[in-house]
Amino acid sequence: RRLLGTAGAAGAAGLVVGGGAGAGVARAVGDGPTALTTVGSAHIPFEGARQAGIVEPAQAHGHLVAFDLAPGTDRKAAAAVLRRWSDAARTMTQPGNPEVTTPAAYDDQVAYDAGPSSLTVTFGFGRSFFGRTGLTAHLPEALAPLPDFAGDALDPKRSNGDLWVQIGADDALVAFHALRVIQKATGDAARVRWQMNGFNRAPGATAHPMTGRNLMGQIDGTNNPKPDDADFQQRIFVPEHAGGGAGSSASPAWMAGGSYAVVRRIRMLLDSWDHLSVARQEKVIGRRKSDGAPLSGGTEFTPVDLDKVGPDGALAIAGDAHIRVAAPASNGGAAMLRRAFSYHDGIGTDGAPDAGLLFVAWQADPVKGFVPVQRKLDGGDGLSRFLRHEASGLFAVPPGCGPGEYVGQALLE
Ligand code: HEM
Repeated sequence: RRLLGTAGAAGAAGLVVGGGAGAGVARAVGDGPTALTTVGSAHIPFEGARQAGIVEPAQAHGHLVAFDLAPGTDRKAAAAVLRRWSDAARTMTQPGNPEVTTPAAYDDQVAYDAGPSSLTVTFGFGRSFFGRTGLTAHLPEALAPLPDFAGDALDPKRSNGDLWVQIGADDALVAFHALRVIQKATGDAARVRWQMNGFNRAPGATAHPMTGRNLMGQIDGTNNPKPDDADFQQRIFVPEHAGGGAGSSASPAWMAGGSYAVVRRIRMLLDSWDHLSVARQEKVIGRRKSDGAPLSGGTEFTPVDLDKVGPDGALAIAGDAHIRVAAPASNGGAAMLRRAFSYHDGIGTDGAPDAGLLFVAWQADPVKGFVPVQRKLDGGDGLSRFLRHEASGLFAVPPGCGPGEYVGQALLE
């Protein structure tokens, strides 16, 4: 259970603590080596109707990497890459000993004595992929470029890309190893366009609060859609009747069961932020910093009361508070699953940390999820003066695959 509680989203469909029997977990405290009975042995199956790495809690270590196809790489060659990637991910996520989890062809022994450590490897296609491979007839409408936002300061070299891979694991070496294996499995067919590294709290670092904190110190992820919400599947995943059905006419049939990932590298202006008193910081978000409770009262998971007026006659949650401006109620019901990693790329020449959030938001249709919310935040969010959006990507993440199949097969064959 400890593993489930270490990161934002509730519910961990597909997460299996290795070893089968619960005995391994029970032994975790003060009884000899624990790595492979807890963090190391937890595994998330690669195969399934949905790709792994979307609904499971974000892991302690993440790598986001985009590739551009080499000139001349056609649909067939791209299909071969996705097959090699899927086979490698399938192998690395196996439960069991390292001989099983290391693809022999790319073995560098970096993860040699480690278990899968909740490794997930998730694959997506950028808009430019379709033109390069002659597949424009299959380009989802939902992959229309994101609009420009007033607060954007985007670096095109670190944005978009033909292919996108999200790697997450609760062990840094396992995550790095997966990245190396994926890069080697690409061969000459594609080159890395950009890569970003992120992290979250390590499993077991705290028993409470159960939702992770970001680098501003806030508990982040509380009001995410939950897998047991009645409308969770339809908000996050493209319905099976894609290609004309209600709710997702912007997606072709090959995306049924898939999702769209919006990726934003959001720099936090931490020096300015740290100058605010905790009370001011709480007002900017609309929640208490210590325990994440909304300023309208209660505890972390108490529903937010946006109409509540305090004893001073003012709204308990300010007009420009982040949770008011971002709330589905303020955006025609728009919702997305936020599954972020923090990043820290050192201290800049100005002495300020180059740090923030690798924001990854999942939804069945970005035009109904991220876009309206970011439009609203861009104009009137008290938090935005402490943020700078530095890179952006939008990727179509197809459904998962079964035994012998590869991710993206319905598009590429
Ligand atoms: C809620 C922080 C960017 C959408 C929250 C919460 C925090 C937070 C602390 C309250 C806890 C929670 O419910 O998760 C941040 C930080 C950001 C950021 C530090 C940038 C570095 C964004 C962006 C979007 C967004 C870019 C979408 C375009 C939301 C939504 C909620 C939320 C939808 C839930 C609102 C509700 O229904 O209560 N965010 N956020 N956030 N944020 Fe952000």
